[in-house]
Amino acid sequence: MNGERIYFFDTTLRDGEQTPGVSLQTPEKVEIAQNLAKLGIDVIEAGFPAASPGDFEAVKTIAEQVTGATICGLARCNTEDIQQVAHALQGAKRSRLHTFIATSDIHLEYKLKMTKEACLDRVKECLAFAAGKFDEIEFSAEDASRTDLDFLCRVFEVAIEGGATVLNVPDTVGYMTPIEFGNIITYIKDHVKGIEKAIISVHCHDDLGLANANTLAAIEAGARQVECTVNGLGERAGNVSVEEVTMALITRKDCYGDFKIPIDTKQLTRVSKIVAKLTGVAVAPNKAIVGANAFAHESGIHQHGVLSHPGTYEIMTPESVGAGETNIVLGKHSGRHAFEEHVSQLGFTLGEEKINMLFTKFKELADRKKHIYDEDVMALVMDTLDYQKAITVVHHHYHSNESGYAYADIRLHTPTGLSEDAAVGDGPVDASLKAVERAIGIPVSLKDYHIRALTAGKDALGEAIVKVEHEGVLYHGRGVSTDIITSSVNAYINAVNSIYLTKELEEGAH
Ligand code: KIV
Ligand code: ZN
Repeated sequence: MNGERIYFFDTTLRDGEQTPGVSLQTPEKVEIAQNLAKLGIDVIEAGFPAASPGDFEAVKTIAEQVTGATICGLARCNTEDIQQVAHALQGAKRSRLHTFIATSDIHLEYKLKMTKEACLDRVKECLAFAAGKFDEIEFSAEDASRTDLDFLCRVFEVAIEGGATVLNVPDTVGYMTPIEFGNIITYIKDHVKGIEKAIISVHCHDDLGLANANTLAAIEAGARQVECTVNGLGERAGNVSVEEVTMALITRKDCYGDFKIPIDTKQLTRVSKIVAKLTGVAVAPNKAIVGANAFAHESGIHQHGVLSHPGTYEIMTPESVGAGETNIVLGKHSGRHAFEEHVSQLGFTLGEEKINMLFTKFKELADRKKHIYDEDVMALVMDTLDYQKAITVVHHHYHSNESGYAYADIRLHTPTGLSEDAAVGDGPVDASLKAVERAIGIPVSLKDYHIRALTAGKDALGEAIVKVEHEGVLYHGRGVSTDIITSSVNAYINAVNSIYLTKELEEGAH
């Protein structure tokens, strides 16, 4: 066990994107994938190409542009899906197919309406079709943890015979307890013929808050690949988070064994922040490892203890996960070189042209704001992740009086030309968003809105996050400005641009 490798498979861009309300555009996915590779992730599941044209495009772009990790695409166990993954991964330096089929009685009977024999035949056919098209093949038995164990072993044997070298055991509905899940892994190790040729992988959902405990129990029993997401994003209650499983394995190596872990832990906080910003899903302050309070000590007794010896109340150092003090990085006298240096320290690799554009924006911001913090620089970079913007603001004006009454008017550039409208509301945000709603020309309803200051101080940037609904689908948008009304309008327009882009990609596919 000591010195053995644990492989990290990240599914933030696939299972993580299945978090309700999360819809990422290709440039945002590429940015996340680049950061996952820097973090040390072995395999990046870039998406599910057959799910939508947008997913196909994102997987293809990541395969072409992101190096340093194996790029993986998800496919149901059918030849059409597998072919789509093969097309999307053509540009990858190293490619992995991840194909899955449900194996539990309840899924076979009610979802797939398939017998166990038909399921085995399907796995055999699909793996034969996939052979030679990818560098690696991973097979998942969806709902494995509720599958009859002997049948699960038979399915895995067929998968190994078909060329799969990674066998994934998903706890799809997060139903397992650690002891049960560990026993399943032991059973598979003891009963699947040829298992020594494969890596056992686990994919734990957090419906009972047991994803991390189950993952660790599986590792103790012999699993060597962990499927995880940044910040624990994912379907329903999410997946096990990369930060929790990594730090548990490292902090308690006395208990789990001294495994080789590829993750550069000092980058965990930074990557968490990037993912939170781009997905619009904020990290709870009390979240383990990356929450704002993870290293905060409130009570006098704790503060006294930590000052005397950090080990009294800290089981790992904030520095080990990159959670330093928010530092003042730059001011209005900072030069282009210092700015570029900081952008690269924050983990972004931007070309000359983008740096020049950002530097101009940075100078404008520095005129309005005395201290520029890491968070401010990150916000500037996020705003330049340019994808096609169907709608842009030409003009926005508002005024309000003391009684709360407000008026706003807006002029937008839309795909059908200039559009303008005005509205009154309870306060300038309400009036402005109503004016936008009227001017955009497609039916959209606001489902969630919140705003927060990115850093301390009266001149802090305000970040607005909105969720809007269009034809039953949720889209999120983000906007940042020193003026919170402008942030709110930008966030709304950003969400509407996501709708346009998704529709455009869908239409392009027909
Ligand atoms: O939860 C699950 O079963 C999945 C599979 C596709 C691996 O996400
Ligand atoms: Zn899942």
